[in-house]
Amino acid sequence: MEQLLVEEAIRILIADDELAQMRALCDTLSQYGYETVGCSSGEAALRLMQAAESGGQRFQLLLADLMMPGLDGIAVVQAARAIDADLACVIMTGEGSIGSAVQAMQVGALDYVLKPFRVSAILPVLARALETRKLRIMNASLELRLREHAVQLVRINEELQAARLQADRANEAKSAFLSNMSHELRTPLNAILGFSQILSSEQLPSTAAQKKQFAGNILQASRHLLRLINDILDLAKVESGALTLEPEQVPLAHVLQECRTLVDPLARLRGVEMRMAVPEQASVTADRVRLKQVLINLLSNAIKYNRDHGSVTVHCTEIDTERLRVSVQDTGAGLSEAQLAAMFQPFNRLGQEGGTQEGTGLGLVMTRHLVEKMGGELGVVSTPGLGSTFWLALPGCLD
Ligand SMILES: Nc1ncnc2c1ncn2[C@@H]1O[C@H](COP(=O)(O)OP(=O)(O)OP(=O)(O)O)[C@@H](O)[C@H]1O
Ligand SMILES: [Mg+2]
Repeated sequence: MEQLLVEEAIRILIADDELAQMRALCDTLSQYGYETVGCSSGEAALRLMQAAESGGQRFQLLLADLMMPGLDGIAVVQAARAIDADLACVIMTGEGSIGSAVQAMQVGALDYVLKPFRVSAILPVLARALETRKLRIMNASLELRLREHAVQLVRINEELQAARLQADRANEAKSAFLSNMSHELRTPLNAILGFSQILSSEQLPSTAAQKKQFAGNILQASRHLLRLINDILDLAKVESGALTLEPEQVPLAHVLQECRTLVDPLARLRGVEMRMAVPEQASVTADRVRLKQVLINLLSNAIKYNRDHGSVTVHCTEIDTERLRVSVQDTGAGLSEAQLAAMFQPFNRLGQEGGTQEGTGLGLVMTRHLVEKMGGELGVVSTPGLGSTFWLALPGCLD
């Protein structure tokens, strides 16, 4: 495709108090394709520059006489470059004042021409000054780009560092999980080994009642081991993303009733009263099977860590038009600040390790994963001595 290049005329501002010379210069330079504007004082030159600057028609070059009444060439160059730092300035001077011309160059003039001038001498000076101006502008834009790149680099570096930190943390969490896991697996396995050794040993005779008790211990430890392995596999499946969910509209009261049937024996054992205060019409968008798993986890915790003859109440409230909050409130011992801070850590049973309630310390970790995978949120509020409320927020509505 052909491109039409319109080259803009180069604008030169000429300031010289010797009018005849200024006009002659204007005429001569226009003949060489330059657009010239002349004036007879430094003050007038600055006014013209300011007007050109605000009118969007900047001068590229200033040709200023060194000796002028009022503002002299040096002062004009200095003030003009303050208005437009890109402006190329050339000083015009007589033979006797080259020293001052050098001074002018120190405040920003690019070159000087000697009076009286010949066109053949002045044209190359102007061309050089304009070329220097162009290079300066290019340099400045390159510098700007360089600076932008540097800023970008710093940002990318910061992002990389943050990503590495996150990866390190994930790695640490995995290592901690693995070391906790081997410890947790070893405990029931050691119990199985120990009691089996006693049972099969000739040197350690035991009564029939003891044998029965040891076998019971082995059975209990085996069940615990199996649960641990199943829970770990389940968790690994969720964490690796291998678990696929099938979201659907689930009637909440109905699903809660099904869960209740499953946890009721546990509640009866502890004399815990179950109260369901969920509107019949309430529904959530969730994977039905996994939602049941979540609710059973929360309900069984609320029963397990309750006091005897306490109660568990399930409420359902509207967060906004699109989300519901389901809360499971118990009358147990509640959780301290320190316990709340350590909540949702795999295998951390928050002091229940030696307690009467069995568990692996994986239930809530799994529950949280599942709720988040279903686009929801899981949280807890607790008052030591009064009880805890575990809540989950899910997409859904009350009617
Ligand atoms: N409603 C609750 N009231 C008081 N403490 C609770 C409650 N729910 C959980 N906890 C504490 O949090 C710990 C972790 O709970 P989580 O459900 O993850 O594991 P768990 O119940 O010990 O074992 P499991 O894997 O069988 O569920 C529990 O051991 C218990 O100390
Ligand atoms: Mg639990």
